Amino acid sequence: MTLAAEIDKNGTSPEKLLAPVLSAFWDQPESWTLETYRRHEGYEGLRKALTMSPDDLIAYVKDSGLRGRGGAGFPTGMKWQFIPQGDGKPHYLVVNADESEPGTCKDIPLLFANPHSLIEGIVIACYAIRSSHAFIYLRGEVVPVLRRLHEAVREAYEAGYLGTNILGSGLDLELTVHAGAGAYICGEETALLDSLEGRRGQPRLRPPFPAVAGLYACPTVVNNVESIASVPSILNKGKDWFKSMGSEKSPGFTLYSLSGHVAGPGQYEAPLGITLRQLLDMSGGMRPGHRLKFWTPGGSSTPMFTDEHLDVPLDYEGVGAAGSMLGTKALQCFDETTCVVRAVTRWTEFYAHESCGKCTPCREGTYWLVQLLRAIESGAGTLSDLDKLNDIADNINGKSFCALGDGAASPIFSSLKYFREEYEQHITGKGCPFDPARSTVWADDKNASQGVNA
Ligand SMILES: Cc1cc2nc3c(=O)[nH]c(=O)nc-3n(C[C@H](O)[C@H](O)[C@H](O)COP(=O)(O)O)c2cc1C
Ligand code: SF4
Repeated sequence: MTLAAEIDKNGTSPEKLLAPVLSAFWDQPESWTLETYRRHEGYEGLRKALTMSPDDLIAYVKDSGLRGRGGAGFPTGMKWQFIPQGDGKPHYLVVNADESEPGTCKDIPLLFANPHSLIEGIVIACYAIRSSHAFIYLRGEVVPVLRRLHEAVREAYEAGYLGTNILGSGLDLELTVHAGAGAYICGEETALLDSLEGRRGQPRLRPPFPAVAGLYACPTVVNNVESIASVPSILNKGKDWFKSMGSEKSPGFTLYSLSGHVAGPGQYEAPLGITLRQLLDMSGGMRPGHRLKFWTPGGSSTPMFTDEHLDVPLDYEGVGAAGSMLGTKALQCFDETTCVVRAVTRWTEFYAHESCGKCTPCREGTYWLVQLLRAIESGAGTLSDLDKLNDIADNINGKSFCALGDGAASPIFSSLKYFREEYEQHITGKGCPFDPARSTVWADDKNASQGVNA
């Protein structure tokens, strides 16, 4: 049964709510090949783009209102416009495919099922910013995606969409696929550039911004996979078509990744502004017999929401006004069986592990957050530890060298805001009410009562 049929079975008509564009033919046989892509108007956007001047093309993408899908929602056309022209230096496009944020899982399936949408977008973007060399920095662990991407690039060279004099336009473009070594920090755009240059991936001081001095100190655009892959359809179907979806400030379609304790996890491509309630209604809801407790609107770095936020429009403005960020649209849903202290401890362990160590607030702060959280989870914490947690997170947030630090602080703040009582229960009850076996204090008490410590 196709996804659309499954959604229909659950009541809400998908046609009304979904907008499959990038995911439109993922369920077709060999969706990743050039032949399949061409059957779905593949590379038609490029043909149209090549009839425009590069400056007009940048203005067109800017007018479409497309915003970066890598997390911050920065306008894509505006980013391209920052590249200085006539400076005599090489310009580079670097596609960020390092996807590593807990819960975030859209770029990898997109590349696996439809790699040519990215390649077509890359050629269009390079024509616009006058670049003749582009790079894809892919998360290294996803070897099957790496192979598929290499094959798609080979097909594109063979068909004349890459290489010299592309489609007879005079445009020359080389595309290099680079596999990273599996570090979350290498998704931060300047750490990514250092890594691509062969150095240890650590964020750079800004200014200069990559648009002025990026890869090899030359003007560089760094864009997310989904941002670039969305461009061909805007050219092919028109900016008005794109703007007819979503809201005025957050137009268009996007991939929402539904995961966790839900009945129908997966990628749901819909206009910006859909709500989690609508997505759950059409996908079968939470797993049977359970209810939503908390969720992230855009991966673990975005402040968590609760069931009070089911009707928040999932666009940049709506989520921002409700106190979080749209981020990567990774909707991780947790039901009432989940211990929020446990979940936050696991996320914080991730941030402590992935902290690159360059700045003190993040390097030291994430370490101490983990120590406190583990103590609280096991029942060895004190009530004053909650203020200490908040204080350490406050010393990381906005005071770190890059946004990884802010991301590490956000689950602490938001979980204390909505679930302080649950933290207190761990402290006063001397252990985890969800899973006493996890509690060392509880285990000690048990041992004592069994005479182990006597
Ligand atoms: C720790 C950290 C990890 C990041 N990881 C990614 C990533 O895997 N993919 C991505 O596109 N952006 C990631 N970003 C955001 C990038 O720095 C950058 O903003 C983004 O690639 C810009 O693309 P866009 O304008 O198309 O959204 C990360 C940022 C931080 C601070
Ligand atoms: S905030 Fe963390 S990841 Fe970012 S530079 Fe500082 S130590 Fe490195």
